[in-house]
Amino acid sequence: MKFPNGPQTPAVLQMLRWIANPMSFMEACAKSYGEIFTLRLDKNLPPMVIISNPLAQQQILTNDTKELEAPGDLNQLFEPLLGKHSVITISGAEHQRQRQLLMPPFHGERMRNYSQVITDVTKQVISQYQIGKPFNIRSATQAITMRVIMQAVFGLHEGPRAEKLQQFLGALLEKASSRLNVALLYFPALQRDFGPINFWGKQMRLQQEADELIYEEIRERREQGDSSRTDILSLLMAARDEAGQPMTDEELRDELMTLLVAGHETTATALAWALYWIHKIPSVRQKLLQELDSLGDNPEPSTVFKLPYLNAVCSETLRIYPVAILTFPRVVRTPLSLGGYELEPGTVLIGSIYLTHHREDIYPEPKQFKPERFLERQFSPYEYLPFGGGARRCIGLAFAQLEMKLALAKILSSLELELVDNGEVRLKRRGLVTGPDRPIEMVVTSQRQMKSPILQTTTV
Ligand code: HEM
Repeated sequence: MKFPNGPQTPAVLQMLRWIANPMSFMEACAKSYGEIFTLRLDKNLPPMVIISNPLAQQQILTNDTKELEAPGDLNQLFEPLLGKHSVITISGAEHQRQRQLLMPPFHGERMRNYSQVITDVTKQVISQYQIGKPFNIRSATQAITMRVIMQAVFGLHEGPRAEKLQQFLGALLEKASSRLNVALLYFPALQRDFGPINFWGKQMRLQQEADELIYEEIRERREQGDSSRTDILSLLMAARDEAGQPMTDEELRDELMTLLVAGHETTATALAWALYWIHKIPSVRQKLLQELDSLGDNPEPSTVFKLPYLNAVCSETLRIYPVAILTFPRVVRTPLSLGGYELEPGTVLIGSIYLTHHREDIYPEPKQFKPERFLERQFSPYEYLPFGGGARRCIGLAFAQLEMKLALAKILSSLELELVDNGEVRLKRRGLVTGPDRPIEMVVTSQRQMKSPILQTTTV
């Protein structure tokens, strides 16, 4: 089979570069081979064709089910954590059906219910930080997104089970984000028990404990049969397929784990980056505060959501350092012309969100954080795609955007924050997503007094 050009180094070396730093590996390949190239990471896996041209992205993302498919079995890296029945690991009609079940809680009226939860949780979390005492901003944003997703998904507010589950999930995701763990995922042969150094076994035990808590909650809910609950677990338990069958406990567990994992870590990292950039570049913070202050006390969440500069800051945060650097893989089903290549059935295609977001021709000075670019022009969904696209586009897109904006608005209007040091923080791999290459420490310098909107308009 003929593939686009790519590095000819042995697969194991390509894999090691991929695990260590996929961003710099992709950048080096794009420089040498252009906007479509092939990586060979493992002789037992099909080569991956990586794409960063927006027209090619459009072609692969809008073409699902005809010449191309987005099969879940290619996402098997996620299976140890999310299970066989996760929306991420299933395919075809089963995938479509499951998405239809999962989408309603993330749309329209229901989203409004989450606004209060997001603002309240953010207020609770930030009230714990003391003036003058440095803290890791990612831990703070993780605490926010974990509690928010627990309430939205399980309707679990407080109590021992919620606390224990948060603890296990936190520890599980922390472990899952190490390079070692990524290597274990890519080299399943290493997932064996090597006695005292059985890293995989530790991961599995944590997972079992989290699973037990999830199953306990499902059992209790079945017994209670409370039809007035509106959380996602309740909606999924009430759902029936065409044959009138409910989801099994195992299916429920896998979808819940998927939403908890996909919805917590990603948004926490995005929020931490946003706070980093806002405090790294004083003019960005100043403009943002001016916009937020203009709304006065306790603004409507829907008004905050529509603020243009806040939107531009969030968009630029996800452009420069996308949390997910790739779309899920697609597979060619019938011969396909793409970027000057004739691709044969079986070819695996992956959209590089990172490379597309760093194209000089679309984003001049791509390594600079410039929210204004999102005010000056509109980007197509294939030039700007932090949430992917097509049949596997992120289910939590609107939820994540709402959470980023409301949490940022609450934090910035309540606290004067500073970065503890002004050194640069870069993007690195964290498990199957990305994150900061070192802890970002921040400190509260004072509680913030909002500038009066009237004073503002008279002084401008
Ligand atoms: C800033 C935060 C987030 C980012 C950057 C992000 C990004 C992504 C990306 C790139 C994909 C793959 C899309 C594709 O291949 O076309 C995806 C899929 C997915 N995301 Fe998100 N996501 C975020 C937050 C969330 C949240 C809050 C949830 C749910 C609570 C969520 C649930 C999912 C699910 C279930 C999928 C799989 C969809 C499928 O396979 O059909 N994500 N996300």
